[in-house]
Amino acid sequence: MKILAIESSCDETAAAVVEDGRKIISNIIATQVEEHKLYGGVVPEIASRRHCESIVGVVDEALEKAGMTVAGLDAIAVTYAPGLIGALLVGVNFAKGLAFASGKPLIPVHHIKGHIAANYIAHPELEPPYICLAASGGHSQIMRVESYTKFVTIGRTMDDAAGEAFDKAARAMGFPYPGGMYIDRASKNGDCRKYKLPRPHTANPYDFSFSGLKTNVINLVHNAEQKGEQLDIDSLAASFQYTVADILTSKFVAAAKEYGYKTAALAGGVAANSGLRGMLEDRCAENGIKLYIPPVALCGDNAAMIGSQAFYEYTEAGVSADGTLNAAATMPLT
Ligand code: KG4
Ligand code: ZN
Repeated sequence: MKILAIESSCDETAAAVVEDGRKIISNIIATQVEEHKLYGGVVPEIASRRHCESIVGVVDEALEKAGMTVAGLDAIAVTYAPGLIGALLVGVNFAKGLAFASGKPLIPVHHIKGHIAANYIAHPELEPPYICLAASGGHSQIMRVESYTKFVTIGRTMDDAAGEAFDKAARAMGFPYPGGMYIDRASKNGDCRKYKLPRPHTANPYDFSFSGLKTNVINLVHNAEQKGEQLDIDSLAASFQYTVADILTSKFVAAAKEYGYKTAALAGGVAANSGLRGMLEDRCAENGIKLYIPPVALCGDNAAMIGSQAFYEYTEAGVSADGTLNAAATMPLT
C-alpha cells in the first residue's frame, strides 16, 4: 500500500511516499528554520504563509522522486494534530482537496504517533508491544505502545517539554533557534559536572518537570551578566544536557523495569541529542533492554513518519476521515 503523507504542524513543510508503513519511496522536507531564526522562535503567522507557498512544490517533488502520479497512490495521509493551528490547516486542507479530487482515502495522523513510527522505518524488526519515550519541542511522554495504534501514557511533562527547555536554555546561553542542536554541539567541549542544576520532584515518578531547570539556567546567565562574570558556556551546555538526559533516562528505564519491558524506543526531535542517545543506550544495555532509536534524519519533523503511522491507522484500526476533517492544536495521544 503506497501512501502519500503530508506534514505541516510546525516549521517544516514535508511530503513523502511510504510503502506498507516501512519503506520510504520518497521523502521531501522544506524547512523554514532560517526565517524563524531571525525572531528567536517560530512565528506562527509566517509558518502558515510559508506552508501555503511550499506545499504544492513539496508534494510534486515527493511524487516525482517516487516516480508516481496521484493515480498510483492508495491513500493520502496528513498530520491533523497537535501543532500550530494555522500551519496544520494548510496541510489538512491540501490533503482533503487531493483526497476528494482523486477519490483516495484520507488518513488523519497524530503527530507524536508519527514520531514513534519513525522507528518502524528504521528498524524492520521492531513490533509492539514496547515502551516508548517521545521527546520533542512540544511533548515529553513515556508511553506503553500496546499495538501500532494503541498507546497508554504513563508519564508526561507537568510544564515545559524537553525540547522547549533545550530551546529556552539555549537562547539564554546565546545560541540561535532551535537551540537543542547548538547545546548538543557545545556540550562536546564542556564539563558536564561543572554546574550543579536542580532535578525537580514530581508526584508521579514517571512525570517530568523541566521548567525549574530551565529557569535555573536563565538565572545563572542573568546573574553572571549583572556581575560582569564570564560563564563557561560549553560547560553550562554540557551540564544542562547531562541533567536533562539523566532525568529522561532514569525515569524511562525505571518505567521499563517496573512494567517489565525488554524492548524500548526513543522518538521525537530531542531523540537527535547525542548525550541522550548515548546515555539511554548504555543504561538500556546495562538493564538488558533492547533500545531502538531512529537515525537523526528521521528524529525531526518529516512526512515519512506520518506515512508509516498512517498505514497502521488504516490497516489496523480502520481510521479514515471525510471532508469534515479539522485540525487541532492540542490532542491527547490516548
Ligand atoms: O520533533 P520536533 O522536530 O518538533 C516538534 O514536534 O516539536 O522537535 C523539535 C525539538 C526542538 O526543541 C529542538 O531544539 C530539539 O527538538 N532538538 C534537539 C536536538 N535536535 C533537535 N534537542 C537536543 N539536541 C539535539 N541534537
Ligand atoms: Zn515533531
